[in-house]
This record gives sequence, C-alpha cells and structure tokens, in this order.
Amino acid sequence: MKLLRRDFLNKLGLASVAALLAGHVFTWVRSLFPNVTYGQLRRVKIGHPHEIPEGIMFFNDLKLYVYRDRETFHAISAVCTHLGCTVNHTKLARPKTVEIEGKSVVIDSEFHCPCHGSKFYGDGMNYEGPAPRPLEWVRLEIAPEDGKLVADLDQRVERNSKLTV
Ligand code: FES
Repeated sequence: MKLLRRDFLNKLGLASVAALLAGHVFTWVRSLFPNVTYGQLRRVKIGHPHEIPEGIMFFNDLKLYVYRDRETFHAISAVCTHLGCTVNHTKLARPKTVEIEGKSVVIDSEFHCPCHGSKFYGDGMNYEGPAPRPLEWVRLEIAPEDGKLVADLDQRVERNSKLTV
C-alpha cells in the first residue's frame, strides 16, 4: 500500500513538471506570433467626408484623431510614441505661441499622455516627457468605389500633410 502511494506521488510530481513545461513551451511558441494583423485590415473606411463633423473627431477603436476644416482633412495617431498609451486631446484655455522647428506657431490644443506625462503640441510634435518623437500622421484617402474617407493606419505621411476633397 505504501509503495502504491509513493508510486502515485511520483507520477503526480512528474505530471506536474510536464504540465509546467508544456505551459512554458506554449507561451514561447505563442510569442512567435504577433497579436496584430497586418495588411488590408488596417485600411479602414471612416465614413463619407460630409459625415465627418467640423473640428476634431476621435475614433477610439482606431486610436485616431481625425480633423476636418471644411473640405480639408488630416489624421493624427493617438498612440503615444513612448510606450503606446492613448494620448488625450486637450483644448487650451488660451492659444499660445510656440517654436516648432524654428517657426513661430500659434496652437490652441495639445495632446497629453496619461501614462508617463509626455506632451505634444496640436500638430503632434513632442515637447515634454519621455516620448522620443512626434505623434504619427496617418494617411487619408478617398475610396474610388464609394467616395468614403479611408484611414490607412499602416501609412504615415509628413506632418502637416492634408487631404482636400
Ligand atoms: S506611454 Fe506615453 S509617456 Fe509613456
């Protein structure tokens, strides 16, 4: 009887070790495959241009701020360039004049990152905190088949590059 119990405990110990190893192997294999999907899924129709309201609109699922000024549109990614938190758009109480790349620019809004305090001017330029570079500007285009505005989340454009429809 004692031998049976010892045998059972030995087998249980081996099974536990095997289960632990299997878990580690599964985790390692899973880490080889990214969670994100690349390709066509990152081109997203966000609506007809006339459906986008004047000003700024936040698309939470895309982590994207889309701006409309009459017939002109641009989009700035809300993904912080430090570690990827979502930045918040903040309207300033009063516009202020700042120096961006040697030019005086009047800004009336900023982006603030809630994670580690990075701050960006309204055009996405980083100016405070650990973020190493500006927020990305995302390519917008018009879908030829139905005239809808498309955000191509895999395509970056120059800062201040805008689409007029
Ligand atoms: S993730 Fe934005 S400051 Fe760290």
